[in-house]
Formats: sequence, structure tokens, C-alpha cells
Amino acid sequence: ALVSLRQLLDHAAENNYGIPAFNVNNLEQVQAIMQAADEVNAPVIMQASAGARKYAGEVFLEHLIKAAIESYPHIPVCMHQDHGQSPAVCQGAINLGFSSVMMDGSLMSDGKTISTFDYNVNVTKEVVNMAHRVGVSVEGELGCLGSLETMKGDKEDGHGTDAEMTRDQLLTDPDQAAQFVEETQVDALAIAIGTSHGAYKFTRKPTGDILSIQRVKEIHARIPNTHLVMHGSSSVPQEYLEEIRKYGGQFRTTYGVPVEEIVEAIKYGVRKVNIDTDIRLAMTAAIRKYFVENPEAFDPRAYLKAARAASVEMCKSRYIAFGCEGQA
Ligand code: G3H
Ligand code: 13P
Ligand code: NA
Ligand code: ZN
Repeated sequence: ALVSLRQLLDHAAENNYGIPAFNVNNLEQVQAIMQAADEVNAPVIMQASAGARKYAGEVFLEHLIKAAIESYPHIPVCMHQDHGQSPAVCQGAINLGFSSVMMDGSLMSDGKTISTFDYNVNVTKEVVNMAHRVGVSVEGELGCLGSLETMKGDKEDGHGTDAEMTRDQLLTDPDQAAQFVEETQVDALAIAIGTSHGAYKFTRKPTGDILSIQRVKEIHARIPNTHLVMHGSSSVPQEYLEEIRKYGGQFRTTYGVPVEEIVEAIKYGVRKVNIDTDIRLAMTAAIRKYFVENPEAFDPRAYLKAARAASVEMCKSRYIAFGCEGQA
């Protein structure tokens, strides 16, 4: 059944677990997420970015997610819009039947310029007002995702900022977070703690100086009743990189957010964990392997089946690690 983000995250908070929010762009990803959730009886958050809407078309995405809900009536599914750049974009998603929207006011609507706190509060408040009227949840974002190794922002949605940033901008301030939540009444708050989008997050396995789980604890201590969201939370498993390289792909040395660090953050209020890159890596590794082992293959069903199966395993392992098993 379609449920709001608020319903899912309230249950997660009451029962001390976190929920992976997987990005979806096509049929096989939607199917993989549902099959994994079904196998472990986990609740589902599926999210669509602007890039996903551009790739698939918003009506196709809408109906893919609705097909998932119809096919698995016993699984609660939140249909979430990822990184909405303006109230108009969020209104569009609400009109399509999404049960949750993210108003990302950390950047201006050009998706590049870092916004002011007041701008962020105002646009987020506007979205909360229109969304709550119709039972739709809202995720806001305070702070700028980016790297504490390079002190640069990350290009959210592929067209964000790569501006130079200060440590203060790259780590969400607990007092500001409290003021932001108080003024906007968001249902969930995305925070900056050193993660960034995409496959290249860290040049080494991250330690506390470049991935601040400590900051999660400080924010949670200040706003214990707010559901926290971690973006850029793919783990970039080395096994996928090795498999991609082994079967003809190229990948620079890179590290993601270790699953055990996410599990620690879940003890301190993180309830939604955004994952896109890990599905991309799982699919790519499986497809490369399939083509090398089956050079004469040309039926897309064959290699997409391999990609789907790899995605099921990845999703299942995140559901289990984050404590979702049996929570649907
Ligand atoms: O926000 C970033 C997500 O990974 C979505 O990526 O904009 O390429 O669809 P995308
Ligand atoms: P990853 O690139 O780490 O998968 O992050 C996805 C994300 O935050 C989507 O909003
Ligand atoms: Na989001
Ligand atoms: Zn994100």
C-alpha cells in the first residue's frame, strides 16, 4: 500500500531501525527493490530524481511505482521525490500522487548556488504548507553535501555546485538544525556530515575526520524527535569495483560510506538512508560479467535479469543491515 514517509519513519524511530531509500529509473530497479523487500518483509522507500524523470518520463515512473504497489499489496511503499529544486517541482510530484517530496533548499533553484538559511526556510515552509494539507510528507536539507578531503561541494543531481566550502558549510550545525525544523516543521531532515553523491566519495576508507558520525550524534542530541536523512550513502563495495575492472571496466580507487558507519548512525536518529550508486554498480558489474561470459548474447532480458538479480542481493543486504527485516 502507498504510505507517507512520515508513517514509515515514525515506525522506524519507534523500533530503532533505518530504511534504505533507493533511487529508481527503470523497471528492473523497481522490481529488484520490491523482490528484496518481499524476501525479508521490509518497508520500501522508492525515490525519483529529476534525472530519473528526464530519463524515464514522469508518467512512466509514476506507473512503475504504482505497479510495484499493486503487485505487492502487503508491503508499505513510500513514493518519494528526491531533491526537488523548487516548490513548483514538489507541487508537480504531489499532483502525480507521490506520498513524499524533498524540497532541497540547500541550493538555489538553479541547483548550483548555495542558498541562504532564510531562503531555505522560506521555500521549505511553502512546500510543507502545501504538502501537509494533502497528507504528503516533506524532507528538507540543511548544510551542503561535499567532501571534507577536498573542501568542495558535490554536484547534486549532476548539476550542483563544486564551489569551495568551509568546514561549517560541510557539516550541518545542530543549533541551526533545531531552528530550521522548528520554523519549517519538516518531517525529515537531510544533514551534511561529509558524504557526497556518486561513486567518488573518499580517497581512502573514511575515518572520523572525513565522515562525521560524531556530528550525527550532536544533531540528534539537539533534535531527538527529528528523523534524520543521510544522502550520498552508497557503500561503493570494493567487490563491485573489482568485478567491473575484471570484466573490462575502469574505476579509479574510491571508497564509499561503510555499512557499519551507517548502522552506527541509525542508533542516533538516522531513519532514511539514500542509495543510488550501489544499484548502479551492482547492475554494471553483473552486466559486464554476463557479456564477457556470454559474448554471443543479445537478448536484453538475459543480461537485465543478471543485473536485476545482483540488485536484489544488494538491496536485501542493506534491508537486513539497517534492521528492516520483518518490519513491513
Ligand atoms: O541525488 C542524486 C541521485 O543519485 C540521483 O542521481 O540525478 O543522476 O538521477 P541522478
Ligand atoms: P549515492 O550516490 O551515494 O548512492 O547517494 C544517493 C542519494 O543521496 C540520492 O539522493
Ligand atoms: Na531525498
Ligand atoms: Zn541526495
